Amino acid sequence: MTTPKTMGQQYGRRSWAEPWKIKMVEPIRMSDRLTREKAMQEAGYNTFLLRSEDVYIDLLTDSGTSAMSDRQWAGIMLGDEAYAGSRNFYNLEQAVQEYYGFSYVVPTHQGRGAEHLLSQALIRPGHYIPGNMYFTTTRLHQELAGGTFVDVILDAAHDPVNLHPFKGNIDLDKLQALIDEVGAENIPYVSLAGTVNMAGGQPVSMANVRALKELCDRHGIRIYLDATRMVENALFIQEQEEGYEDQSIAAILKEFCSYTDGAWMSAKKDNLVNIGGWLAVRDAELFDALRNLVVIYEGLHTYGGMAGRDMEALAIGISESVEDDHVRARVGQVRYLGGLLTSWDIPIVQPVGGHAIFLDAKRFYPHIPQDQFPAQMLAAQLYLDSGVRSMERGIASAGRDPQTGDHRYPSLELTRLTIPRRVYTQAHMDVVAESVKAVYDARLETHGLKMVYEPKYLRFFQARFEPV
Ligand code: F0G
Repeated sequence: MTTPKTMGQQYGRRSWAEPWKIKMVEPIRMSDRLTREKAMQEAGYNTFLLRSEDVYIDLLTDSGTSAMSDRQWAGIMLGDEAYAGSRNFYNLEQAVQEYYGFSYVVPTHQGRGAEHLLSQALIRPGHYIPGNMYFTTTRLHQELAGGTFVDVILDAAHDPVNLHPFKGNIDLDKLQALIDEVGAENIPYVSLAGTVNMAGGQPVSMANVRALKELCDRHGIRIYLDATRMVENALFIQEQEEGYEDQSIAAILKEFCSYTDGAWMSAKKDNLVNIGGWLAVRDAELFDALRNLVVIYEGLHTYGGMAGRDMEALAIGISESVEDDHVRARVGQVRYLGGLLTSWDIPIVQPVGGHAIFLDAKRFYPHIPQDQFPAQMLAAQLYLDSGVRSMERGIASAGRDPQTGDHRYPSLELTRLTIPRRVYTQAHMDVVAESVKAVYDARLETHGLKMVYEPKYLRFFQARFEPV
C-alpha cells in the first residue's frame, strides 16, 4: 500500500492553503447516470444547455461564478441605487484608476458590452485588428464593426505541448508584416489580451508588452488591453520574469497597464463579481465618444447596466483581486488539478495556464475527426461520467469564416475545465481528476458528434448535436 501524499509532498515542499475560510455553503449533489443521460440528450450534447441543478461540479466557466467575500456582501448593502451619480460608481472609478492606472472609466454590464463600445468607437470597414489569438465575443464585435481580426500570437501558442513560458506573447514580426502589408493607418489598435483564454490561459511577458509599445509608438498605433484575468497574468510575470520576483501583483499589474492606451474588462472573472464590466482609457476625446455610446447601449455613464450594489461589490472585488496570497492560491488550485492529470499522462495544454485546465481533445480522441467535434464530445462524456460540467473550446467555438462560410479549423481542439475563484476545494479537484481519468480510459469506445442546429452568431452557446 502506498502512503497518500499531501499536495506539498507531491511537489516536494511544504503545503499552502487558501487564504480564506468558508462562511456559507450551497449544497450540491451528484445525480445518477440515467438522469444525466436524459439531461445530456435534452441539452443536445451542449453543456451550455444543461440546467445548473443537474450539474454536480460546475467548471463551465470562471465567469460570474466566483464566491464574493463578506466585505463584498457588506458592500451590496451599501448600494446607492440612484439613476445618476451613484456614489458606488465613484468608488468603482477610483478603484480602476488606482489599480489599473487609467484616467477615464466607463461602466458596462459585462465584458462584451465594453467590447461593443470600443469596437464601434474605433473600427471602420476595411480596418484590421491584430491580436494575440481571437476570443469569441471580442472578434465578433470587431467583425460587426467592419474590421478583420488578424492573429499575431507566437506560433508556440497554437501548439499544446510547446513549453514556452509566455505563450501569450505577440509575435512582433507578424505584427510588423501586417503593418507593412495594410498600412498603420488601417490598424486602429492592437487588441492585446492577458492570460490568453483560447490558448489555454497563457500569459504575456512584461518584456513583450514593452517591446510592443515601442513598435506601436513608431507607427502611431494604439494598444487596448483585454484586462480580463490580468491579475493572473501578473503572477506568471512575478514567478518567471527576471526582476519581478520581489514586486507585488498590484505593482506588476499597474506597470503592465502603463504600456497600453486603455483596457476593457469582464469583471465577472478576476474582479470577483457575479456581473459587471468596465472600459477605461487615457484619451479624453475617446472617453467622450464612449460616454456617448454607453447611454445608447448599456445605461447612463454612471451605471452602465449595473446596479449601484454591483458597482460597490466590484470596487471591493478589484482591491481583493490583486492580493498576492489570493492570486497564488487561485492559480495554485488550477495547477493542482493540472499536476494530477499530468502525472497520469492525460493530454492537456502545457504549461498549465491561469484559470483552467484545457484537455487536448485531438490527442485524447485521435480517432475522431475535427469536424465531428471531439472536444464537444469530451465535455459531454465528462458530464455523463460524473456530472462535472466543462466547455468546448475548439471547432464549435471557432465558428465559420464570414467570407467562405466554411468551419474555421483551429489548431487547438480543447475542452476547458474552468476553475471558479474561491468556490471549490481540493477534494472537488480530486473528483474531477478521477472523472477525467475514467473518460480517458474509455476513450476508444467514444465516437463523434454531428451538429443538428446551428445559430448564426457565437454558435457554441446554443448549438445542438447528436452522436454520429
Ligand atoms: N474577454 C475574455 C478574455 C473573456 O474570457 C471573456 C468572457 C470576455 C472578454 C467577454 O466578457 O463574458 O463578461 O461579456 N469569457 C467567458 C468565458 C464567457 O467563459 O471564458 P463577458
